[in-house]
Amino acid sequence: MEPIISTQGLKKIYRIGKVAVPALRGVDLLVQEGEFLAVVGPSGCGKSTLLHVLGGLTNPTSGRVFVDGNDFSNMSDADRTRFRRHTIGFVFQRFNLLPTLSARHNISIAQHIQGNGFNPHRFNAITSMLGIQEKLEHRPFALSGGEQQRVAIARAVICEPKILLADEPTGNLDTENSQIVLDMLRELNRTFRQTILMITHNPEAAAVADRIIRMRDGHVVSG
Ligand SMILES: Nc1ncnc2c1ncn2[C@@H]1O[C@H](COP(=O)(O)OP(=O)(O)OP(=O)(O)O)[C@@H](O)[C@H]1O
Ligand SMILES: [Mg+2]
Repeated sequence: MEPIISTQGLKKIYRIGKVAVPALRGVDLLVQEGEFLAVVGPSGCGKSTLLHVLGGLTNPTSGRVFVDGNDFSNMSDADRTRFRRHTIGFVFQRFNLLPTLSARHNISIAQHIQGNGFNPHRFNAITSMLGIQEKLEHRPFALSGGEQQRVAIARAVICEPKILLADEPTGNLDTENSQIVLDMLRELNRTFRQTILMITHNPEAAAVADRIIRMRDGHVVSG
């Protein structure tokens, strides 16, 4: 079976003025459809950079990235944006909800942006699975951290992306809320065979994944 993600010799060097900061130094990664993967490693080892490249948020310096059969290096920016909208859901560490919109609108706006219009069946399935149906009229300030993160996950998966990328989705949550969010991710993975790549510093979070990718100094060292 063809992997849903594959990278070959993936490198990313950031430039700040004349200083080159190597963040990825040659990453070869294969992810199969339906896998739930945790990405772990010390601060600064390149985890977020890897997720941003896989999500088409930033370009690699060299190497190849295939996502769902498409080669990122041969895509125009416009094509990559369109591709990202249909293929990738992204959950950020800091929720990134729009403060003036209710939970309902924070989630449904993703469907409007994607252009396929509102799908009430999917909306109900996802919000009930994530246990936020009672909170849909709340604006973010009136939601707990765990609820905000669940709304952010709902927004990321509402358009049925093939791949969910989550950068420390439990990073700002207490133990109880972390566990709730992890259970929800596990459930999404089981029910919809949602492919998930999750960065985490938390060993309990990594333990819920099927496979753990360990990074150090811009390399994948195991997994
Ligand atoms: N926009 C940027 N410009 C320059 N350097 C950057 C930029 N983003 C990240 N870096 C550098 O690239 C390296 C990898 O950063 P990255 O954010 O991928 O690490 P990380 O593993 O996610 O760390 P953390 O666990 O602290 O979030 C670091 O040395 C960082 O300082
Ligand atoms: Mg990071």
